[in-house]
Amino acid sequence: MIKVAPSLLAADYLNVGEDIRRVAEAGADYLHFDVMDGSFVPNISFGPEMCRRAATCGLPVDAHLMVVNPERHIEAFAEAGARIITVHAEAATHLHRCLQQIRAAGCLAGVAMNPATSPECLRYVLGDFDLALVMTVNPGFGGQKLIPACIDKVAAVRGMLNEAGLDAMVEVDGGVNLETGPKLIAAGADMLVAGSALYGAADVKRFIEALRK
Ligand code: DX5
Ligand code: ZN
Repeated sequence: MIKVAPSLLAADYLNVGEDIRRVAEAGADYLHFDVMDGSFVPNISFGPEMCRRAATCGLPVDAHLMVVNPERHIEAFAEAGARIITVHAEAATHLHRCLQQIRAAGCLAGVAMNPATSPECLRYVLGDFDLALVMTVNPGFGGQKLIPACIDKVAAVRGMLNEAGLDAMVEVDGGVNLETGPKLIAAGADMLVAGSALYGAADVKRFIEALRK
């Protein structure tokens, strides 16, 4: 089953709790929680305290850490109730250790990669993560257009996992809508993050159902 993770980045910040409950009722699987530090990416978003509140609103939190030195923040997000913690391969100097740290904190471990990063970054940590996040835009902002070359990368990542006999999730993030979603699913994605397209949909429940098909 295809999982859908609405991105909190596209919610109404004056009505966050209501916007999370709304997507939970509409059948979303996770709440995608974008953490930006103004250093790894140009933008600044939310921290652990916001995560703690968001985690009480009815969906498991999928924390996407777009931060330098991610190892410094893992315990804080685990303690704040995140279910998945994903770090960027480009930001984690000791990626293997970071993934172990996430699992030791009781969370599912994810590795994210930027559009220009080769999926080979996963080669020597296959088996050490539960989710691979293929960024389909340059991280930092919602509402961007998907970069088509990243669709091939989804297939490459799924191929690597299949070859190794692993069933880790393959998540895609950035520019996901009803036009790009089917291509990403066909390439092997099984978890779709959607921000602006989902929160901008007239009927969120129908949007989620259509995305899963
Ligand atoms: C971008 C974030 C995404 C973003 C996706 O850096 O990681 O999660 O919210 O937003 P859309 O779906 O609008 O591209
Ligand atoms: Zn994200």
